[in-house]
Amino acid sequence: MSRVKKYYIETYGCQMNLADSELVAGILRENDYQATTHPQKADMILVNTCSVRENADQRAIARLHQFKNLKKRNPRLILGLLGCVAQRDRGRIIRDNPFIDVVLGPDAYRRFPEVLRGANLPLVDVQLSKSEVYDRITPFREVSVNASISIMRGCDKFCAYCIVPFTRGRERSRSPQSVIAELHRTIEDGFREITLLGQNVNSYRWESYRFPQLLEEVAGIAPEQRIRFTSPHPQDVDDGMLEVMRSYPNICPHIHLPLQSGSTQVLRRMNRHYSHADYLKLVEKIRQYMPDIAITTDIIVGFPGESEEDFEETLDVMNTVRFDNAYMFKYSPRPYTRAAKWADDVPPEVKAKRLNRVIATQKGHSSQHNRALIGTRQKILIDDVSKKDENEKRGRTGTNKIVILKKGNPSIGALLDVDIVGASGVTLFGEMKK
Ligand code: SAH
Ligand code: SF4
Ligand code: F3S
Repeated sequence: MSRVKKYYIETYGCQMNLADSELVAGILRENDYQATTHPQKADMILVNTCSVRENADQRAIARLHQFKNLKKRNPRLILGLLGCVAQRDRGRIIRDNPFIDVVLGPDAYRRFPEVLRGANLPLVDVQLSKSEVYDRITPFREVSVNASISIMRGCDKFCAYCIVPFTRGRERSRSPQSVIAELHRTIEDGFREITLLGQNVNSYRWESYRFPQLLEEVAGIAPEQRIRFTSPHPQDVDDGMLEVMRSYPNICPHIHLPLQSGSTQVLRRMNRHYSHADYLKLVEKIRQYMPDIAITTDIIVGFPGESEEDFEETLDVMNTVRFDNAYMFKYSPRPYTRAAKWADDVPPEVKAKRLNRVIATQKGHSSQHNRALIGTRQKILIDDVSKKDENEKRGRTGTNKIVILKKGNPSIGALLDVDIVGASGVTLFGEMKK
C-alpha cells in the first residue's frame, strides 16, 4: 500500500497570496495530497513568495535554501517556488539554484496535477494570463472563521514604485455567478466572516456590473456573516460603494485606503491620480457617510526625489486624518517599475529617520483611537486564541481592531458583546458582558 503523500506550504506577502495558497492546497487535495505542518515529513515543499520589497524577495530565496538540505535525506522531495518572486525572476532562478524542481507564477497553478503525475522536472511556468481567475477550483481553507474570496486578479494601475502589475499581470474580474456560488459554499461551511479580495478590489467589473453591486448582493445573501473587502484604491471609491457600505449593518465599518504619500508632487510621480487635497476630501466624504468608520492606510517614505517638505505633507495628512492603523514602508526599488529607472536618492539614514517619524506619529493616533474605546461595549467576532496566552481568546471589532478577552471563554466563531476595559498599542482588552 502506498503512503498518502504530504505537502507543506509556506506563504509570504499579501492576502492575495494567502488566498492563492488555499487554491493550491485545494488542487493538491483533489489529487490526494494531504497537508502537513512539518517540512521534514513532506513529499512536496512549496514556498509562495512575495516580491513587493527587496527584503521580502530575498527572504523567500533564503527560505528555499534552508529546505535544500532535506533533499539529502529524501531525494524524491519536490521543492517548489510559487508566487511573485517566481514571476519576477521569470525562470532564471533555476539556473543558480538547480535544487528547485518547480517554478510556477501566480497564473500557472493549474499545472500542479501534471507535476503530481510525474512530469519531467524541473518544470517552469511563468506565463501570465489575461483571463485566469481559477474558476471552479475549491480552495482549501486552513482557518475556520474568515473566508477570503478572490473576486479579481492582477492590477492595471502601474504605480511607479510597484512590481505587482508585473508579477500578477493584467486586471481581470471573476463572474458574479462564480463569486456568489463560492459565497454560498462558504456560508454552508460555517464561515462567519467573508473578505472579498483583489489588488484593487473596487475596480471589480463584469460588463456593466460593478463593485458596489457585487458588494450589495454579497451583503444581502449573507446577513449573518460579517463582510469585509480589501484593498480598495482611492481613485475608484465612489458614492455607490459608500451608500452600500452605509446601508448594510453586516458590512464592517472599516476601509483600508492606501495613501502612499501626502505630497501632491510625489503622488503625481507615483502615478497615483489624486492629490493631497483629493485624498483629504475623500476621507471627509467617507466620514460623512459613516462617521464611525475606521480608516487604515499604507505609507511609503523615501520615494525618489522626496524632499523634507514632501515628507512633511505626509505627516500633515496623517495628522489631519488620524488613521486607525497604518502599514509603513521604506521605498525599495523594484525591477521593471518606472521608478527603478530614477535615482534612489533619499539616503538610507534619511529613509530610516522618516520611517521612525511616521511610525511614532501613527502609534500616537492608534493609541488615541483605542483609548477612546475604553468603557464602551463592542461587538467582536472571536477568531482565534491569543498569541501570547492560549487560555485567552482573541477577536476583532467591526473596525478590525484586535481584542484580547481577559474574562470569558466563548467558542471560536462566536459573535458577542464585549466591554472594553483596557488598551495597549494596537491591542484592546475586553471582558465578556455580564
Ligand atoms: N494593491 C494594493 C497594494 C499592494 S502592495 C493597493 O494598491 O492598495 C502593498 C503596499 O506595499 C503598497 O500599498 C505600498 O505601500 C507598498 N509598496 C509597494 N511597492 C513598494 C516599494 N517598491 N517599496 C516600498 N513599499 C512598496
Ligand atoms: Fe501596486 Fe498601485 Fe496596483 Fe496597488 S494599485 S498593486 S500599489 S500598482
Ligand atoms: Fe507581494 Fe505579490 Fe502580494 S508581490 S504583496 S505577494 S501580489
